[in-house]
Amino acid sequence: MVYEVVGSKDKAVAIIGYGVKNPRKLAKRIMKKHKNIKSVLHKCGERTGTYRLHPCKLIIGDKNTEVIHKENGYSIKLDPLKVYFSPREATERERIAKMVKSGERVLIMFSGASPYAFAIKKKHSDVYVTCVEINPYAVGYANKSVKLNKMNRIKNICADVRKVKLGKFDRIIMPLPETAIKFLDSAYHFAKPGATIHVYTFNNSHNAANHEIANICEMFNIKCQVVGEQKVLPYAPGLYKFRVDLKV
Ligand SMILES: C[S@@+](CC[C@H](N)C(=O)[O-])C[C@H]1O[C@@H](n2cnc3c(N)ncnc32)[C@H](O)[C@@H]1O
Repeated sequence: MVYEVVGSKDKAVAIIGYGVKNPRKLAKRIMKKHKNIKSVLHKCGERTGTYRLHPCKLIIGDKNTEVIHKENGYSIKLDPLKVYFSPREATERERIAKMVKSGERVLIMFSGASPYAFAIKKKHSDVYVTCVEINPYAVGYANKSVKLNKMNRIKNICADVRKVKLGKFDRIIMPLPETAIKFLDSAYHFAKPGATIHVYTFNNSHNAANHEIANICEMFNIKCQVVGEQKVLPYAPGLYKFRVDLKV
């Protein structure tokens, strides 16, 4: 993708992809064509670090890159320079929200600015959602968005999910494809009997993703079955983001 847009029709930021040639020329064209785009950033590397952020340079426009992104009827406040966010994952958030059942207790590990929580709560007002995220900027924005969306029963906790004490959940979402499998033992610990765990991973095929997860479960003595899978998005040549659904 040449560039993506985060924000709303009032204020948005365009983010030009890593490796795009002549980003300044493109940035000027984008600003001229889309009056809501107030800043253009250029990714200058792959996502990195614990917070999974793209190193980015401001090419043109306002230094203040904080926006309110709108998708599927809810708002997510964030600064793409400080917080992970991908507008391309909106469809996946909808898929997850459709699987949630009335009254469930849902845990979102690695919750970022909590877009999964808003997608779920938009469909199910009676669900309890707990979000755990290590980046304090993301948690600050998540709390602001809870107010913006006038939603309740969402708790945003700023912590390393390995170190936090929580109760048990009916559904656990693990949207950290680089390393989520290393946290499967923690997810299992938080799972009620019969719970569903949605774990994301990068791989080249459904089969390879399923085997990878099944092997990790065996290694950690995690008693669950693979009950579903989803190819989410292409990530790199020959590599996709997959979701594997586990039943405890
Ligand atoms: C790939 S991002 C996904 C964010 C969000 N769920 C979304 O879809 O927009 C993964 C997030 O996990 C957070 N994270 C990484 N390690 C963590 C840990 N040990 N405990 C809690 N959060 C963590 C990062 O800061 C980052 O925001």
